[in-house]
Amino acid sequence: ARESDTFRPAIHYTATNTWLNDPNGLVYHEGIFHLYYQSNPFGNVWGNMSWGHATSVDLINWDEQPVAILCDAEEDIFSGSIVIDQDNSSGLGNGQTAPLVAIYTSAYKDSSVRRGTQAQSLAWSSDGGYTWTKYQGNPVLDRNSADFRDPKVFRYDGPTGSYWVMLAVEANEYTVVIYSSDNLRDWHHLSSFGPANATGGVWECPDLFPLPLDGDAEQTKWVLTVNINPGGPNGGSGGQYFVGNFDGVAFTSETTVTDGSSQTAELDTYQWLDWGRDYYAAVSFHNAPEGRRLMVGWMNNWQYGAAIPTWPWRSPMSLVREISLVTDQGQPRLSQEAAAEYRTDNSLSVNTWSALLLDEGTRTLDEGAPVEIIEVTLIPESAEEFGLIIRGNGTEGTRIGIRPAANRLIMDRTRSGNTEFHDAFASIDTAPLKPAPDGSYTLTLFIDYCSVEVFAQGGQVTMTGLIFPGPDSTRLSFYASGGTAAAPCLKVTRLVEPAV
Ligand code: FRU
Repeated sequence: ARESDTFRPAIHYTATNTWLNDPNGLVYHEGIFHLYYQSNPFGNVWGNMSWGHATSVDLINWDEQPVAILCDAEEDIFSGSIVIDQDNSSGLGNGQTAPLVAIYTSAYKDSSVRRGTQAQSLAWSSDGGYTWTKYQGNPVLDRNSADFRDPKVFRYDGPTGSYWVMLAVEANEYTVVIYSSDNLRDWHHLSSFGPANATGGVWECPDLFPLPLDGDAEQTKWVLTVNINPGGPNGGSGGQYFVGNFDGVAFTSETTVTDGSSQTAELDTYQWLDWGRDYYAAVSFHNAPEGRRLMVGWMNNWQYGAAIPTWPWRSPMSLVREISLVTDQGQPRLSQEAAAEYRTDNSLSVNTWSALLLDEGTRTLDEGAPVEIIEVTLIPESAEEFGLIIRGNGTEGTRIGIRPAANRLIMDRTRSGNTEFHDAFASIDTAPLKPAPDGSYTLTLFIDYCSVEVFAQGGQVTMTGLIFPGPDSTRLSFYASGGTAAAPCLKVTRLVEPAV
């Protein structure tokens, strides 16, 4: 028999029966969230790259739409972004409604005279993003480069004027290149950023956006994100960020610690969008409502992504995250949480525990559910390591814990279920995590059929991992080793009840 579809997530987007990778063209338009993505319309491994499309009004329920931009004999349609061209600056609109303009990478095939190169191209939609037409003058930006890709465009309004800004990468040079345009067709080089900090792999899928620091609009700073593969903090794909200023021409970072030439990289000292192994190619929505900065990543890793044991689809998107900027020990740091939409259903069953004390060992707390939110505060006593075992059955389970002496968060998926499909999958991933001033650690976990996303200490550290447990492995336990620990409060909100 074929594999069954037991890992299909409940609250994460998956394509019905095809492969996906990077989120593309994230845009909120007339009440609808549009998620485009790198899609193979003809299979469940990477290839035939095209833009798939899904829509949602609540970020939880997604409707798959027909393929938006299909590859052809000349080019694959690689990653990129979409803007609402409000004033029809591109001239691509029909004069009645503002066009949506997609800026994507043309990855030229061998049959093209441009073979071996990548350049930036346009397509437009006059029906709100459902059907797309390629611009006749493509490509609009060509550097005669083999690795020039992943354009992210936004509207800049500032002292230097009002214009479109594009970020893209020279992937092998660990460089983000920045361009400006008045019409989305003619682009002028403004500046470049990088190499800096992590350079253990190609730079891909950049983004740049302003955020108020500590909620103070007078204290806005700019955040530059760039994904890297491999060279992530726990191996393979990852995403790093820099905080600083964008003056309309150049981005200057105030969080750079190395010039990127380091051969013995200090990954712990860099800022990461996520410390887990399954959050890549993250980019933010254009035009999100109420000034929200919402980001989505591909919940997989290029190391083993093509081998994950799901069928007929392959790869989920991450939850949609809301991003803010906070000061931590004098440094600007991102704080991330799952979008509030995931918590709006008041009919869900909630269990709470208080004053849990644990001697060395493991204690079952709940037979659990396959999809739930766990909120817990943990206090180390004498334990060397302690925390939760999720999606367990007594034999298998994923440990999410704290090693207080080292101040580290850990995610141990060595016994998380099916780990056999690829040598690189089973891992104990770790991240630096400081306790609160009272010595406690607070974690929020979003668990779905094949994933766990950990938001630690107010979302300043996040860790995302795929897991492939048996369908009945839903048990939640508390564990401590080498001593005792405590959990003053634990709350479990079931999003899906277990099958009976
Ligand atoms: C990142 C990436 C991008 C590219 C796309 C191709 O995962 O390699 O750089 O545009 O995937 O599918």
